Amino acid sequence: MISNSAVARIIAIANQKGGVGKTTTAINLGAALASREMSTLVVDFDPQANTTAGMGYQRDPTRRSVYQGLLNDVPFDDLALKTPVDRLFIVPSEKNLVGATLELANRPDREQILRQKLELIRSQYNFILLDCPPALDLLTLNALVAADSVLIPVQCEYFALEGVSELLDTLIRIRRSHNPKLAVEGILLTMFDDRTNLSHQVRDDLKDFFGDQVFDTLIPRNVRLAEAPSHGQPILLYDPTCRGAESYLQLAKEIIDHDSKGPGARA
Ligand SMILES: Nc1ncnc2c1ncn2[C@@H]1O[C@H](COP(=O)(O)OP(=O)(O)OP(=O)(O)O)[C@@H](O)[C@H]1O
Ligand SMILES: [Mg+2]
Repeated sequence: MISNSAVARIIAIANQKGGVGKTTTAINLGAALASREMSTLVVDFDPQANTTAGMGYQRDPTRRSVYQGLLNDVPFDDLALKTPVDRLFIVPSEKNLVGATLELANRPDREQILRQKLELIRSQYNFILLDCPPALDLLTLNALVAADSVLIPVQCEYFALEGVSELLDTLIRIRRSHNPKLAVEGILLTMFDDRTNLSHQVRDDLKDFFGDQVFDTLIPRNVRLAEAPSHGQPILLYDPTCRGAESYLQLAKEIIDHDSKGPGARA
């Protein structure tokens, strides 16, 4: 929470398909941005609380979490916790966040609550990353309304495109209703295996379909990335020289360069 910047860029990491690398990206892109001198807040917006655990905080229903920020008006400032990485902070989640969607459902501003809360802390960070649950639910909608852009991780597998079109349709709807400037930060290929034709085929298909909306950086399938969360550490601490760590540093560079060209450059 170092006040060294103007206004944070808010990036939602979303794909309603499960297990595509959203949380791995939230943790490790967050750490990579922080290591590149960017003060970064990761908001765990998923009741599974995998980002919280992967940053070294045990799941604990008695600890204040993003739930209290949304529903009890606890300032996000008070919820942000330090992590083992300098300049990297996390607002933790916990499983009761599931109930928030029901409690918010009848509020007229139900899709805008997160945006209102983040507006208050925007000046304190360079980047705010929102790790979304695997659903196009009210939590994800709140994240997309609050965000400047969305980063879409796509796993290199059959049916990789499944869901991406639906997500892009949702973006169009949100641009019309709440957030006209919502951009696509980029489509990120995850778990890329250079040795398989399938990985190359998925990459070629995505490039054909989405052109330069696809990040140049590829995240390789890397066992160290899968191991790191059980040690409560981002990859940059767990194994800073592995290919997974290098790829997230490269992604951070691509996003910082992209940001310097101005919002919406990739929209
Ligand atoms: N590049 C990678 N190489 C190897 N394993 C990976 C990689 N990225 C993610 N994984 C593993 O794949 C699984 C799913 O990843 P992750 O939890 O990041 O996906 P997710 O999209 O957040 O899932 P959910 O939709 O459940 O929130 C995890 O076990 C994770 O450790
Ligand atoms: Mg996740």
